[in-house]
Amino acid sequence: MAQPCAPWLLAANWKMNMDHLQTLEFIRELSVLLPRGEGEGGGAEMAIFPPFTSLRTAQVFSASYGVPLSLGAQDVSPHSSGAFTGEVSASMLERLGCRYVLVGHSESRKNHHETKEELVGKAKNSIASRMTPILCVGEKEKGGEGIGEACRQAEEVFCDLSPEERAKVIVSYEPVWAIGSSTTASPERISDAACALKADLLEKFGASPRILYGGSVNEGNIESLKGLGLGGFLVGRASLRISF
Ligand code: PGA
Repeated sequence: MAQPCAPWLLAANWKMNMDHLQTLEFIRELSVLLPRGEGEGGGAEMAIFPPFTSLRTAQVFSASYGVPLSLGAQDVSPHSSGAFTGEVSASMLERLGCRYVLVGHSESRKNHHETKEELVGKAKNSIASRMTPILCVGEKEKGGEGIGEACRQAEEVFCDLSPEERAKVIVSYEPVWAIGSSTTASPERISDAACALKADLLEKFGASPRILYGGSVNEGNIESLKGLGLGGFLVGRASLRISF
């Protein structure tokens, strides 16, 4: 995986790829490419977001191979415990060593019809379990409402969080039209969106979250996006390649 400069976060969203055996193999290969301890102290952080079933493997083998990887989950239940078949709680993820949780990724928003209350519950439960929610926001249409839509998605979660909780959220700008496509949003667009999100959340809530970008980032274009004042990248397809 490419390592951006400090203090960036390179978050690898594996989506529904990589079973636990493939995860083990990936970490073993990474341990060869990335000698023990490399990456620590440089300030850049690599985090993988495997499927739930691969988290334990990633936790155990990144520790035993000495690979400096943080762990994140792709989703979390808005409930704490109980009769919620199929759901995984924040405390379970915390016990698996997760540091981050994706909240409101556009694929979860669409496929699970997540409500605002559920997104708030997911963010709150993650924070209560000492994890950092990465709140994904972004407009659906390229020529549509644009950045205002992303700001509204961020606002609707931030408005129900306490000031202490707001300070713990990372926001990832992910225009839906750029995800899984052949091209990223333009650097100007990403920069405008990051500035708009920062200004909006500062003005309305006094919050200044770290802003990531996601949407077709790969080894060929990441360099051109590094100078935009972002806090890092959320990478999908390209992060499945060990060479990234
Ligand atoms: P992609 O996915 O890099 O494959 O476009 C990004 C994402 O879904 O966050």
